[in-house]
Amino acid sequence: MAPPTRLTSYADWSPRPRLGSMCGIVGYVGPKQAQNVVIDGLRRLEYRGYDSAGVALVVDGQISFDKRAGKLANLEKAIAERPLPASTTGIGHTRWATHGGPTDANAHPHLGQTGRVAMVHNGIIENFATLRARLEMAGHELRSETDTEVAAHILEAELDKFGDLTSAMQAACRQLEGAFTLVAVDAQDPTKVVAARRNSPLVVGLGDGENFLGSDVAAFIEHTRDALELGQDQVVTITRDAVEVTTFDGAPAQGRRYHVDWDLSAAEKDGFDWFMRKEIFEQPRAIADALLGRHAQDGRLQLDEVRMSDDELRTIDKIIIVACGTAFYAGLVAKYAIEHWTRIPCEVELSHEFRYRDPILTRSTLVVAVSQSGETADTLMAIRHAREQRAKVLAICNTNGSTIPRESDAVIYTHAGPEIGVASTKGFMTQLVAAYLLGLYLAQVRGTMYGEEIGAVIRELGEAPDQVQRLLDEAPAISDLAADMREARSVLFLGRHVGFPVALEGALKLKELAYIHAEGFAAGELKHGPIALIEEGLPVFCVVPPGGRGQLRDKMISAIQEVRARGARTIVLAEDGDEAIAAYADVVVRLPKVSTLLQPLVAVVPLQLFACELASLMGHDVDQPRNLAKSVTVE
Ligand code: M6R
Repeated sequence: MAPPTRLTSYADWSPRPRLGSMCGIVGYVGPKQAQNVVIDGLRRLEYRGYDSAGVALVVDGQISFDKRAGKLANLEKAIAERPLPASTTGIGHTRWATHGGPTDANAHPHLGQTGRVAMVHNGIIENFATLRARLEMAGHELRSETDTEVAAHILEAELDKFGDLTSAMQAACRQLEGAFTLVAVDAQDPTKVVAARRNSPLVVGLGDGENFLGSDVAAFIEHTRDALELGQDQVVTITRDAVEVTTFDGAPAQGRRYHVDWDLSAAEKDGFDWFMRKEIFEQPRAIADALLGRHAQDGRLQLDEVRMSDDELRTIDKIIIVACGTAFYAGLVAKYAIEHWTRIPCEVELSHEFRYRDPILTRSTLVVAVSQSGETADTLMAIRHAREQRAKVLAICNTNGSTIPRESDAVIYTHAGPEIGVASTKGFMTQLVAAYLLGLYLAQVRGTMYGEEIGAVIRELGEAPDQVQRLLDEAPAISDLAADMREARSVLFLGRHVGFPVALEGALKLKELAYIHAEGFAAGELKHGPIALIEEGLPVFCVVPPGGRGQLRDKMISAIQEVRARGARTIVLAEDGDEAIAAYADVVVRLPKVSTLLQPLVAVVPLQLFACELASLMGHDVDQPRNLAKSVTVE
């Protein structure tokens, strides 16, 4: 295939199938070389999508741009070979395709009809077909079929009318439906970058004589830790010295200023080969941080961020947890703990299924949204539905200022720090901690547990950082195991009780990173069908419940025997001191002794390490697995 030609001319584009996007966005205006600031920002946002990348700069009354399919490295290489002109105003984009192929032509930025404006976009413009037809009727020549290009043409047409990019953006946004963050520059005005958001993330970085825009703060964290969170349906204009926020109607509006409590080093790899590995090893600290400051002086549990009164919490008669992927598995664990401690019925539902089944929601339903990013569109739409039905919504979230906590009645932040690896690890771990805290807090408020009982669980949670550290110290043994299983093409995971979601999580990690068939089952379900999958040598990870729940452990052993009898190779995760388990295991992975409900905190660690290690050995990109993105901001 011929190498892509340099793409600087607006006329180079040919029509493509319709594209949407879910992506990372950067904007800059200030004294520095915008190209460097934008590319550095894109590098930190690349976890959001890495199908293609592009940059546009304002240079002497023109837009200069380049965009390339594939990872950011392709764009960087192209720019290194043929640098773009110097400029101090620019925008950039790294994309995760929702429809259509990741090609040079489909990459952002997209230009308006005359090439006066350049735009990058995250989200999907739902009425794009109508808008496109209208533009074509008016003689516009659309060079791609992306929804973004339609928005760029509309913006440019409005700019012709208003003469000013901010007013044009407001007018354009009034015509758009769906979810979008738009960031644009005007070739004739190098002093500003204008952006808008609806249902899609955007934050402003507040610098000294310079300002930034980003899908999240990682985009500009090396330049400033002061940020401005934008509200729904707002337009923001940044110049070197000012940030002006308005509504789509042009009325003055306010963002919320905040200080980011982590710095660049938290977003760097710190000597690890992968962000994922770094994040696995950060888990002891992440658990400790998630537990920090949860005690009032009288020893009672306090959750400051939960802005719901005790009376409100006492009226709750049903909890529904909504989440996706790994966060959903954290929700499954939460159900066991919350129901056991509070006796409140608790359902767990995939966010994307939730609102389409007409769930029964009342004022006394508490919907708990679990989301590391706080931007997952499926979960966001689920909580909006819940709030429309008057249910209360509490978010368990890792990202300060993100949309889900902002639209919730209450929030428990997980304080894990930035999670960059696409596969969630410390995010999951701290979601578990937050879910336990929520369960205990509800039990405290409703009097379903004695203070001493709550204190005992909190003390046990306090031991988790050391226990996880101990498992991490044994990581080399897991590496050996992965090396030994390099040829495996299918791996099963079995668990019971809270070990079942751990099995699901172990399988998901392996699927997303090693691209091999992996499935998690409730061990009791095996004999109802999945046992047919067992064949000679098939690796089966078995999460054995702690001995305290004797029955569960014994039932698990029955399942292990069933698979061993059919030739499976069993890798058994069992607690210290369970010597009898060795008779059922080809490999034993020792877990610290913990109570049953808290076992996921330790049991998941070897499974995370195993997936990371196996994927590394297979030569895969662990941080950016194929076809995935960190934040799934489209439904
Ligand atoms: O940001 P969220 O927690 O809402 O993300 C939910 C899922 O997309 C996420 O957990 C996904 O499954 C991860 N890739 C799992 O490692």
